[in-house]
Amino acid sequence: MNNIKTLKVLRSILFKEKSLKCKNITHRYQSSIDAPPSSSREIAQLTIPKGILGQPTCHTHPHLIQQGQLTCGITQQEYKERRETFVRKLLAEVENVHKTHLIVIPAAKKQYMSDKIPYVFRQNSDFFYLTGCLEPSAILVITKPAFNDDFKTILFVHDKDSHAELWEGPRTGCVASTTLFSVDECLPVEKFHDYINKLTSISKPSVMWYHNDNPTNPDIHNSVHTAFRQGQGVMEDPQRALHQMRVIKSPAEIELMKETCYVGSQSVNMAMACTKPGVSEHAVASVFEYTCRMAGAEHGAFPPVVAGGPRATHIHYVANNQLLDHGDMLLMDAGSQRWMYNSDISRTWPVSGKFSKHQRILYELVLSVQKRLIELMGEQRPALDQLFDQMCRLLGTALQQEGILPKNIDSNELIGRAYRLCPHHVSHYLGLDVHDAPLVRRRVPVADNMVITVEPGIYIRPDDQSVPPEFRGLGIRIEDDVLITSSGPVVLTNTCVKEVDDIEAIVGKQNI
Ligand code: GLY
Ligand code: MN
Ligand code: MN
Repeated sequence: MNNIKTLKVLRSILFKEKSLKCKNITHRYQSSIDAPPSSSREIAQLTIPKGILGQPTCHTHPHLIQQGQLTCGITQQEYKERRETFVRKLLAEVENVHKTHLIVIPAAKKQYMSDKIPYVFRQNSDFFYLTGCLEPSAILVITKPAFNDDFKTILFVHDKDSHAELWEGPRTGCVASTTLFSVDECLPVEKFHDYINKLTSISKPSVMWYHNDNPTNPDIHNSVHTAFRQGQGVMEDPQRALHQMRVIKSPAEIELMKETCYVGSQSVNMAMACTKPGVSEHAVASVFEYTCRMAGAEHGAFPPVVAGGPRATHIHYVANNQLLDHGDMLLMDAGSQRWMYNSDISRTWPVSGKFSKHQRILYELVLSVQKRLIELMGEQRPALDQLFDQMCRLLGTALQQEGILPKNIDSNELIGRAYRLCPHHVSHYLGLDVHDAPLVRRRVPVADNMVITVEPGIYIRPDDQSVPPEFRGLGIRIEDDVLITSSGPVVLTNTCVKEVDDIEAIVGKQNI
């Protein structure tokens, strides 16, 4: 890693290239725009309506979205194909012959901190994946009649309403939504209850696909249940099939993952560069968030961990309200969300810019385990649960070699001790959600075009009498985001510095 180059990139993000998106994505997506249409009939139907709509389009926000895309990087055609694949997968899950199916996927509902004061809206990832629609409380309904494999897609949205739009901003409305989201029909959300009641009383669907636990939009939960009782069929969960799709990224999603991982990486680098003794954890978190947003992220992917000294031994420390001490290390775990896609990065660095002898020993130990785990992903493709077993084995052996764990314990005890020092999993899938596609078990084989994290850590409590005193109170985690490909793992966060020399060259080099 060239340190000077890294610092130059940091500065260019903040002060020159106001945003990444235009430059990189214009170039990268040119080829998919130029690609011949799979069917000219299909492409002819797909257009993005002109005019100001309820979400950015290529006409109103050309700096964010390219021609031919519904959301940044993703075409209407891709969303349509996702729905087709999704329906096919669901039909394959149950005995399908002669059956009527009804699928209901709700959007997220706006949440309020008090009275009329909303939190920043975050769309439900399942709904977004199938529609590209950013509207709160919309509902995707797909119906498939018996004896016929054709299906109909209906999107319930908030219709145009000049009074509501005066307060909340423009809506897309039913007419433009039908074209924008390339569905068969759009209806006002107020009609949802009557629509599915009528539908179920007439067609008696044998299978209703609806995620019944922790309902995404509680407002329609009762309507769905009333309709379900009327249909007298079975209720099945569509999430398993959906998450199996989401865990494998399309070429366009991979580009979005590369972009968000680049933004996150440079933002961690900038946080590192702005770290000095006496600066607060809060200020370092703010540098991260500012850099992300300036580079085109909506916001952070999750509340960041910015933990100085022994606070790093609390895995989910998010108070971030202490001042940084000269001799301490800082553990940051942070990510960016850009066009709904997340990065998730952890780095640990010395506040003063120089690792102490024992900090360096432990840091290099975690770093060598982390690099070996990424190599193993290429050599053996272990399932994520197996990667966790490998981490415990590697950490245990390395800690024993350094004299941090005793020599006279057997391998089971060693693995147990390593697990107690790193009690979290070493990996999860990453994408539209930080812990992405949670219904895909971590014991399934890892496949091409998955994005996973590799994040070993060691957390030694200040009062842990079982390790030598010089290592007590140290907490270290190193986390990269890794794309799985047929030619090996690709570290998408590779511009985020992690070598000791590179870290020491950057920490403290940027004034806040
Ligand atoms: N930042 C959450 C995680 O690493 O899983
Ligand atoms: Mn993670
Ligand atoms: Mn993380």
